[in-house]
Amino acid sequence: MSTTIQSLRDYREKGQKFSCLTAYDATFAGLLSDCGIDVQLVGDSLGMVLQGRESTVPVSMEDMVYHTECVARAQPESLVMTDLPFMSYATTGQCLHNAARLMQAGAQMVKIEGTDWMAESVRQLTERGVPVCAHLGLTPQFINKLGGYRVQGKGAEAAERMVAHARRLVEAGADVILLECVTSSLGTRITREVGVPVIGIGAGPDTDGQVLVLQDILGISRGHKPRFVKDFLQEGGSVEGAVRAYDQAVKNGEFPDSKHSFSG
Ligand code: KIV
Ligand code: NA
Repeated sequence: MSTTIQSLRDYREKGQKFSCLTAYDATFAGLLSDCGIDVQLVGDSLGMVLQGRESTVPVSMEDMVYHTECVARAQPESLVMTDLPFMSYATTGQCLHNAARLMQAGAQMVKIEGTDWMAESVRQLTERGVPVCAHLGLTPQFINKLGGYRVQGKGAEAAERMVAHARRLVEAGADVILLECVTSSLGTRITREVGVPVIGIGAGPDTDGQVLVLQDILGISRGHKPRFVKDFLQEGGSVEGAVRAYDQAVKNGEFPDSKHSFSG
């Protein structure tokens, strides 16, 4: 049975964890679907993982359309979510136009990075039938503004601000919240306080779902390895085994443990 946005709401309601991995091509999209991965993210991380770039900033709409089409052709049972790339949703008009392109390429949900400034775009996407995931916390498209990849929402004030942004975006219609690189306690708090499914990456064990980059769970990513990443190939024994091991570890609550989370 295909995963829909309603499946994610049901999982949250039942306290059942769900799994998400990035996918950029048809072969892996088929494999991830066969392994029961609930959500496939055509992430702009493809800028680093596939294109060898230093950040996600140079990724284009054409790149995202192309890889969404590649994933969609596998007809995965997983829900397909695609990132709107850097500056492709700078205005509400651009956001609607580019979200339409991704949906027509085969995405079933779009993801955008930012805070309450996106509320109007989220509202208009919602009114026009485009499901939205709002990505908060460490937002890699902001790397030049952030000045480095580090834990976000530290300290009471910054935490309050992030909670308020998440609430505001859900009020505007966001269907899913994605939290990247926040302390476990903030991950827990936002998951409790918003009424929609929350996906975490480096956000502790209490979010409704977990996401990682596919190449990271296979232990083949180049360069710096963030704390929240885990290589599942060892225990899985094969590529398919690694994907199944990740899926199981997420669903039975073994991943992430404290070694792969940020305390505080
Ligand atoms: O592009 C990506 O892969 C992502 C996540 C890992 C959340 O946005
Ligand atoms: Na991304």
